[in-house]
Amino acid sequence: MTRDTPDTLGKGDVVSNESLANLLKEERRFAPPAELAANANVTAEAYERAKADRLGFWAEQARRLSWETEPTETLDWSNPPFAKWFKDGRLNVAHNCVDRHVEAGLGDRVAIHFEGEPGDTRAITYADLQREVSRAANALIELGVRTGDRVAIYMPMIPETVVAMLACARIGAPHSLVFGGFSSDALAARIQDADARVVITADGGYRRGKPSALKPAVDEALTQPGTENVRNVLVVRRTGEETAWTEGRDVWWHELVDRQSEEHTPQAFEAEHPLFILYTSGTTGKPKGILHTSGGYLTQTAYTHHAVFDLKPETDVYWCTADVGWVTGHSYIVYGPLANGATQVIYEGTPDTPHKGRWWEIVEKYKVTILYTAPTAIRTCMKWGDDIPAKFDLSSLRVLGSVGEPINPEAWIWYRHNIGGDRTPVVDTWWQTETGAMMISPLPGVTEAKPGSAQVPLPGIAATVVDDEANEVPDGSGGYLVLTEPWPSMLRTIWGDDQRYLDTYWSRFQDRYFAGDGAKKDGDGDIWLLGRVDDVMLVSGHNISTTEVESALVSHPKVAEAAVVGATDPQTTQAICAFVILRGNAAEDEGLVEELRGHVAKHLGPIAKPKRILPVDELPKTRSGKIMRRLLRDVAENRDLGDVTTLTDSTVMTLIQSKLPGAASSED
Ligand code: WT7
Repeated sequence: MTRDTPDTLGKGDVVSNESLANLLKEERRFAPPAELAANANVTAEAYERAKADRLGFWAEQARRLSWETEPTETLDWSNPPFAKWFKDGRLNVAHNCVDRHVEAGLGDRVAIHFEGEPGDTRAITYADLQREVSRAANALIELGVRTGDRVAIYMPMIPETVVAMLACARIGAPHSLVFGGFSSDALAARIQDADARVVITADGGYRRGKPSALKPAVDEALTQPGTENVRNVLVVRRTGEETAWTEGRDVWWHELVDRQSEEHTPQAFEAEHPLFILYTSGTTGKPKGILHTSGGYLTQTAYTHHAVFDLKPETDVYWCTADVGWVTGHSYIVYGPLANGATQVIYEGTPDTPHKGRWWEIVEKYKVTILYTAPTAIRTCMKWGDDIPAKFDLSSLRVLGSVGEPINPEAWIWYRHNIGGDRTPVVDTWWQTETGAMMISPLPGVTEAKPGSAQVPLPGIAATVVDDEANEVPDGSGGYLVLTEPWPSMLRTIWGDDQRYLDTYWSRFQDRYFAGDGAKKDGDGDIWLLGRVDDVMLVSGHNISTTEVESALVSHPKVAEAAVVGATDPQTTQAICAFVILRGNAAEDEGLVEELRGHVAKHLGPIAKPKRILPVDELPKTRSGKIMRRLLRDVAENRDLGDVTTLTDSTVMTLIQSKLPGAASSED
C-alpha cells in the first residue's frame, strides 16, 4: 500500500462482493496452539470486560505503567476530536521504559542485543541503558535543550538511536525521527515544520556491506531556509568515515555524552505532554506531522505488545525488523517492548548482507521467540526460496507478527510454514502512524486465525466498516474502515494544523475516524483490509481493489510479488496494470503473461483480468517497505515520475521504465 492519505474518494461500493466470496472459498483456519492458549497473557474474557466498560478497561491497562501521580480521569472527550487521556496523571516515559525495571531488580536483564551489519555485537542491559540515557539527557541539557523543544533524529539502526529517543522523552523534548533513507530535502522539510533546535545524527551506518553516510544530508539540509534555529548537530561515530565538520555547531556524541554524569533524575510530565512527532506523507501537500503524547500512547503500546505477542519478558527474545524511523519502530522497538521490560534484538542492516539467510541466522543465534515483520519482507524471502530459512534452526519461534499492508493468504501460509514450522500463530496487526498502536489483530491464544484477515478489533477498540452514507455494512459486504470510539494512543492532532487534522480524519464521516482504508466484513463479521481507498480501481463501472488482484497474482506459484495500479484508459476508465516479480526459479517465457491473466480471471472473475502484466526485477518501495503505486501509475500512464525522494533505491524506476515498451502490450 502506498501511504497516501485519501484527499479524494471513489464512489460506491469499494469492491465487488464476489471477490470476497472468492477469497473466503479457499480459506483455511488455524486454531491457537493448546499450550499457548492455556498460558496466554490475554484470554477471550478481555473482550467482554472491555465491552462492558471500555474506559474502565483502559484505566486498568494504564496501571501497567508507573505514575508519579495516578490519573483519576480516564478520557476527556469534551472537545472532540481533541482527546485527553489520563489528563490529571503525571509520569515520565523514559522512567517507565528503563529506570523502573532497574529499580525492580532487573538491571542485569539484556534490553538490547545489537547486531551490526558487519557482525559487531553489543549486549545492553537495562542498567546500561539507564546510564546511557541519563548521560544523553544530561548532554542535551548542556546543549540547551529545554522541555518542549523539538529534536530531530536522523540515524541508522544502532542503539544510540534508542538512547537518543529515550533521552528526549526523559527531558520532555519531543523527538521527530526522519528515516535514514530520506533525502536532505525531506529532512529539511521536517526540520522546518517542527522547528527543531538540535539534530542528532551519525557519520553513517552500514547498509549492504558498505558504510552509508548520513551526516552530509544533515549539512545540506541545514543550508536551507527555515532551519536556522538548529543550534547543534550531535554526531555519533559509527562508520569512522571522514566527515565534514562545522565548528561550534557540530558535536561528537562520544566527546559530549561520554563525559556526562550517569545520574539524571527524571521529572514527571502530564500525561498529555507531547512525546513525539512523526511525519507521514500524503498524495498532495506537505507531509503531516502526526503528534503523539505520553500516557495514553504508552498505555496502549505496552498493552498491545503484551497482549498481541503474548510477551513473557522473563523468557522471550523479541525481534521487530522495522526501521526505528517509522512508527512500528517507535511503538514496537522502543516504547512498547521497553515499557514491558522485554529483551530484544536490534539489527542494523539489510536481510541479504552478507547472505540471504542473515535474518534466520540471527533468529538462530539469539533464539528469537517472537518475530514482527512486514508482508513485503516475507514475500521477498519467498522469492529467495524455501531452502534458505530451511538451513537454520528456527524452533525457538513461537509467535509471528505482520504489519504494514494486507498480507495475502499465500504469504501468510508461507510464513507460518517455513518460518514458524507450522507451530506458531501468525498475528496480522492493522494500525497506522496515526493510531499509534495496534487496533485490529487476532490474539495468539484466543483467535482462530484466517490467513489474510486482521479479523477483530482488540479489546477496548471500536472499529467497523461503513458505506458511502456512513451506514454500517452488513456482514459479507465492503466499504470504508472507521474507528468509532477514541483510543488511548490516538494522534492528538497534526503538528501546527488542527484544521487539517479535522479535515483529513474526522470530516468524511460524522463523529468517526476515517482511516482511509477499504475493508470488508466476512460472514463471521471478521475484518479484511483491502488497501488504501485511493488504490481502488474503477474498471468498466466496477470497483476493484488493487489488493485483491495482487493477492490473486501472488497465489500463482510463479509469482513472488505483485503491484497493481489502475491506469487511465479510454475504453474502461481505468485499465488494470500489474507489475510482477517472479519467484527464483520461474522463467519469463512467452505464455506466462497469458497464464497469469487467466489465473486472475479464474480467481476474481474476467473483469479483474489485468490488461497489462509486466515482469520486473524490483518494485519501487519506501524505506518502510510500501510499494509506491503512484510511481507505477506514472509509468503505466507514460508520465514523468513525481517525487522519488522517499524511494529506497531510485534506480529501480529506471529499470522498470526501460522494460516498458513492448512488454506491456497484452490486449484482449
Ligand atoms: C497503513 C498505515 C502500522 C504501522 C506501519 C504502517 C496499511 C498497516 C496493515 C495490515 C492491512 C495494513 C493500511 C494503513 N496497513 N498494517 N495489517 N493489514 N493494511 O504505518 O505508514 O502509517 O501506514 O498501512 O493501509 O492505513 P503507516
